[in-house]
Amino acid sequence: MKIGAIMTLHNKKEFPDWDVFYQQNKVETMPWYEKNLDLDMVDEIQFLEKGEFLDLGTGPGTQAIELAKKGFKVTGSDISPSAIENAKLLSSNVNFVIDNILNSKFETESFDYILDRGCFHVLSVDDRITYLSQIKRILKKEGIIFLKCMSKNEKNLSDYQGPHRFHKEELMNYFEMDFDIKKSKDSVYYGTLKPLPKALFFVMKKLVKL
Ligand SMILES: C[S@@+](CC[C@H](N)C(=O)[O-])C[C@H]1O[C@@H](n2cnc3c(N)ncnc32)[C@H](O)[C@@H]1O
Repeated sequence: MKIGAIMTLHNKKEFPDWDVFYQQNKVETMPWYEKNLDLDMVDEIQFLEKGEFLDLGTGPGTQAIELAKKGFKVTGSDISPSAIENAKLLSSNVNFVIDNILNSKFETESFDYILDRGCFHVLSVDDRITYLSQIKRILKKEGIIFLKCMSKNEKNLSDYQGPHRFHKEELMNYFEMDFDIKKSKDSVYYGTLKPLPKALFFVMKKLVKL
């Protein structure tokens, strides 16, 4: 898939119907498809105790599958039933489930870790607040979220095209009330686009509030 196609899909921030998109396209052609574990996560998991991971907005499921290979107990969730159906065919070591994070069925304090590689940045401004309340709810005490979003430094997409491109400060504003921001770095979005789009990678620990 060419970047022009994504631009049309994401025109005026109207994202595709995710399920139709997964029905009509092979995951290997999608801009975010990355077979290997995202290199930023390879660095992070070396220091992590094993625990329960949610790969939120798992899409092709590759990141969830790679995390399971590393010994984590992994759930991969997506709003698209077709994405989940496809992912289930790839591995029985991940619990792949349909779930809309904005109205999530997950129980409170279910996960030690959440990986979000591309879901937050496709949500509308209003939905970001709902998302925040849900991830705070489903993360365990002192749980960690690993977040990758498109960066404002990515100049191949305009303000009207593709996922929202965040400034570091903008992302911090959303999370700093409830999370200890352990890492906020410039990175890239590993996938099928060349050059790799510029991204931000955040590691944040849920604050325990008394
Ligand atoms: C840019 S793709 C990233 C896919 C995957 N994380 C990866 O890195 O390959 C964003 C994914 O978020 C999913 N998504 C969008 N809105 C969602 C929501 N409200 N709840 C759960 N998943 C959602 C889409 O279906 C899509 O698979």
